[in-house]
Amino acid sequence: MGKVRITETILRDAHQSLIATRMTTAEMLPAVEMLDDVGYNALECWGGATFDACLRFLNEDPWERLRAIKKLAKKTPLQMLLRGQNLLGYKHYPDDVVEYFVQKSIANGIDIIRIFDALNDPRNLEKAISSCLKEGGHPQGCISYTTSPYHNTEIFVNDAKKLESMGVKSVCIKDMAGLLSPKDAYDLIKSLKSSLKVPVELHTHYTSGLGSMTYLRAIQAGVDIIDTAISPFSMGTSQPPTEPMVAALSGTEYDTGLDIKKLNEIAVYFRPIREKYLEKGTLNPRMLCPDINALICQVPGGMLSNLVSQLKQAGAMDKFDDVLNEVPKVRADLGYPPLVTPTSQIIGSQAVLNVLSGERYKVVTNEVKGLVAGEYGKTPCAIDPGFVKQILGDKEPITCRPADLLEDKLPEFRREVAGYIEKEEDVLSYALFPKPALEFFKKRQFKKYGYDADNSDPARMSGIMS
Ligand code: CO
Repeated sequence: MGKVRITETILRDAHQSLIATRMTTAEMLPAVEMLDDVGYNALECWGGATFDACLRFLNEDPWERLRAIKKLAKKTPLQMLLRGQNLLGYKHYPDDVVEYFVQKSIANGIDIIRIFDALNDPRNLEKAISSCLKEGGHPQGCISYTTSPYHNTEIFVNDAKKLESMGVKSVCIKDMAGLLSPKDAYDLIKSLKSSLKVPVELHTHYTSGLGSMTYLRAIQAGVDIIDTAISPFSMGTSQPPTEPMVAALSGTEYDTGLDIKKLNEIAVYFRPIREKYLEKGTLNPRMLCPDINALICQVPGGMLSNLVSQLKQAGAMDKFDDVLNEVPKVRADLGYPPLVTPTSQIIGSQAVLNVLSGERYKVVTNEVKGLVAGEYGKTPCAIDPGFVKQILGDKEPITCRPADLLEDKLPEFRREVAGYIEKEEDVLSYALFPKPALEFFKKRQFKKYGYDADNSDPARMSGIMS
């Protein structure tokens, strides 16, 4: 057994999970040299929500953030999270956009790209993996962990082997909902380690309170890398805390070799930032308390709160238990997709409709039709042909890789924002988040001529921005 390595999530998942991705570049930068000095396996610092929040809420350029971090983190690889063919968004992009995005991400400082797909359909990871290899990056193949009557260790190991044969340099099990128990982690990692040549990483969330115990068992089974968050932004819906993990392994055969004093300095830096977000109410102490509901109803925390807000809006909170019972049924009908963006929203909304309309699938969302039609890729389990007919009528589902049906789109995106781009990467910001990107570009342009949108009369500004 070798040393365990640690990927630090403070710059991405930790603040995404606890404070709605609101940490600013200014708050990150003073800590980057300290983080770089620890000897982490990687610093996770970029992904869909961080990119979106930069443009939409922080009036920041996500590419500038990446470059600024890279400038200070000279030794540690930078890591990002990518939703396969969905890139950072919620739909499939044509191959030319995927290729270009990966190229620019690496050119601007990303070293490791963790690539996953909500359905674990390897075809949706194909293009991103090959583009990353072509650019000299480290593509990490990622499997969305879930539980169902269909899923078992063998299925996950086979999925991982497929990714390995596609050229990934490491494999990650992504337990986004904190469902993985210590025992199952041990069995899964043991099997993966005996079947794969590439390093295995485990990513979990503390949501149900199991996280650190799950890591410990995974480590005993031989996991190479674990993901943790520095303590002020750890636990709850975030990752298990870094320092106790390092302390627990210290002096054992799994010793991380990381200096607890250096980690403590980083914790000291982030503590007042945590306090600030607690005072502002962005950090809700309720999210810090272990919640075992995710294990009982197999519904991730984020999805649970979405269901509650949908039912409240409809004035139908009394139907909450019915909806909770309906979720696994809809998931079974749709071939047991893991509950992660966007499948968690698709299944949740349909479950609500099935209950509120009083008849299952009386109303069917376009997203469910798309999923049944194969437009998101292949579901883990085949969908019953009778159900396919009920949802699609005479329309035949597609069986090819969904992106094979998409025409190249970069030239079109380029034309659409021609008047606003200042650098090549702007085209990609626009392709991924058209509306927030365009508003960001406009503000940036006005500011050049002395007009500060953030400190101007909102009424006038909304006229200009509309
Ligand atoms: Co995560």
